[in-house]
Amino acid sequence: MMRIDIITVVPGLLDGPFSHSILKRAEEKGLATVKVHNLRDYATGKQKQVDDYAFGGGAGMVMMIEPIAKCIQELQSERDYDEIIYLTPDGNTFNQNMANELSLKGNLMMLCGHYKGVDERVRQKFITREISIGDFVLSGGELAAAVLADAIIRLIPGVLNDETSALTDSFQDGLLAPPVFTRPAEYEGMKVPEILLSGHQAKIEDWRFEQSVRRTKDRRPDLMERKDF
Ligand code: ADE
Repeated sequence: MMRIDIITVVPGLLDGPFSHSILKRAEEKGLATVKVHNLRDYATGKQKQVDDYAFGGGAGMVMMIEPIAKCIQELQSERDYDEIIYLTPDGNTFNQNMANELSLKGNLMMLCGHYKGVDERVRQKFITREISIGDFVLSGGELAAAVLADAIIRLIPGVLNDETSALTDSFQDGLLAPPVFTRPAEYEGMKVPEILLSGHQAKIEDWRFEQSVRRTKDRRPDLMERKDF
């Protein structure tokens, strides 16, 4: 069973995502579990302080190393972690290859940054991977951690069934997914492509592949550069 521990100062932000749909089913099937830890519980002193002013001045607070170290070390005393991931806009951009790779791991820890981020020494001492979910800035790493957890957990064998299979996802073969249709076969004069109603499976697969290539060329020519058909 995969275990993901998420460390945050806003645990409430992560209340929702893991108790629904596919992620809930993964938990019920015993294939993955997500535990959220409130960093403030590891803060010492009356104020339960987790952040402080930046040395050298400048706007914004920096998350202190002590509470983070205490939390990480307590978790590490209970089990080994394959990766300790820090969610940050200056990390490596997340993609489907990383999701595939991380879905094969056992225990993952994710640290969510806030304010101006964490003291650099946290990164030096504990973090094994720094991941961004894109070139934009969120108000904290929580939603990014939820994005990673979702993309990873759905790839664990047994989480998805035939209806939700990851094999035909966009990016899984390096291409965008083809268009899909369901009933009715005609809506206000808009017809479903004839080929999809033909029952000719091999021709349908050819059509889908061609549509995938066309869509990828149109929308994401950058993805095509690594391909030769
Ligand atoms: N924290 C703030 N912005 C982020 C981003 N784009 N990716 C990951 N973590 C973040």
